Amino acid sequence: MDKIVIQGGRPLKGEVRISGAKNAALPILISSLLTDGWNTYSNVPDLRDIQSTKLLLSSLGAGVESDGDRIKINGGGMCNHEASYDLVRKMRASILVLGPLVARLKKARVSLPGGCAIGARPINLHLKGLAQLGAAIELKHGYVEASADHLKGNEIYLDIPTVTGTENLMMAAVLAKGVTVLRNAAREPEVVALADVLIKMGAKIEGAGTSVMTIEGVSSLKPVSVSIIPDRIEAGTFMVSAALTRGDITILNGEPDHLEALIHKLRLSGAQVTVEDKSIRVQGSNEIASVDVKTLPYPGFPTDMQAQFMVLMCVARGFSVISETIFENRFIHVSELKRMGADIKISGNTAMITGVPALSGAPVMATDLRASASLILAGLVAVGTSEINRVYHLDRGYESIEKKFANLGAAIKRVKG
Ligand code: EPZ
Repeated sequence: MDKIVIQGGRPLKGEVRISGAKNAALPILISSLLTDGWNTYSNVPDLRDIQSTKLLLSSLGAGVESDGDRIKINGGGMCNHEASYDLVRKMRASILVLGPLVARLKKARVSLPGGCAIGARPINLHLKGLAQLGAAIELKHGYVEASADHLKGNEIYLDIPTVTGTENLMMAAVLAKGVTVLRNAAREPEVVALADVLIKMGAKIEGAGTSVMTIEGVSSLKPVSVSIIPDRIEAGTFMVSAALTRGDITILNGEPDHLEALIHKLRLSGAQVTVEDKSIRVQGSNEIASVDVKTLPYPGFPTDMQAQFMVLMCVARGFSVISETIFENRFIHVSELKRMGADIKISGNTAMITGVPALSGAPVMATDLRASASLILAGLVAVGTSEINRVYHLDRGYESIEKKFANLGAAIKRVKG
């Protein structure tokens, strides 16, 4: 297993180009199943989860071709309605094939994704919504079995604005008979990006990005050619690294509107954030002020940035409180940060952080995608050498992150395991 070795303490300076967004690419690639013909996607990030998605789509009979950051997918050949445990266990987002399979093949057998490091992550709302669209749902031997001669539009209220739940139901509703209204829908930019692609395919969707989405079913959708939006979480990770290392980094292709909550909190912490069209410049200040954060559904502060922002608070002046309201176990990075000298106390879903003058480099273990990003950030600012083990977690969601940080002046390298 590879590890990443960092000599901390260098201010990061320069420009960085952000890769395509993992959490937009996954549902968009899967939406190919709704069409007959070749869909072309550009700016697709080179990530393990993308490889898993290509394998999954091929296993369902879809045509998959790739050429650099472009991927072509043809849903026309889809013939297998089963997504196996072996594939789904590698990537929970595989559950997103459920809606398209029922919509196109009238049946689906998808392995239940199970939990992960950050929480139980049930899919009850996905299944409840599909049932409201007329699907018969059964849970057998660790699989979801869903079937429907034809899906019918309905009024669906989501108890939680689930991101992939919203996406799954959007992809089921676009080919259902009649109108579906999704209330308390997720508003994340990745949900809007999927809606934009579905609309380009010929779907009739209104209200994407708001909490009420109206979808009028159509009889068929046509293949498209689209580019994936930049990854706001990758951008946010680099923005925090500038504040953390007292550096000066410009994100060349950011979407500032997608990062309002983080920009606000970085400014409160003392960083200078300058936004010009698609570029976001972050200049760190010597004095980092403590800032309280509460993670919330979009447009609130993103849970996927919680671990990264916590590192900044570990070396801020004073005391800060970070509340994680989305997932029940998303403080796994805390124990590793404490081994690097952080002063953090956990009570339930709240972390109480007392800033320390410096973190000290140490060998640490990555446990999930965003926790591993926070350990990289900690290594960049710590005094001495840090080793981050199990970086395969990182490779799921960050494309060549160590090269991007090295280009910004970090003393960082990947050691093949
Ligand atoms: C998506 O996960 C993202 N993944 C996550 O990013 C992100 O952290 C999360 O949204 C929240 O923004 C992808 O888009 C592939 P949810 P998702 O359904 O859709 C509960 C990363 O690091 N819930 O919005 O699985 C759930 O347990 C990943 O890139 C139910 O109870 O998240 C959680 O507490 C991590 N029942 C809350 O809702 C359901 O049926 C939000 O989950 C569905 C969800």
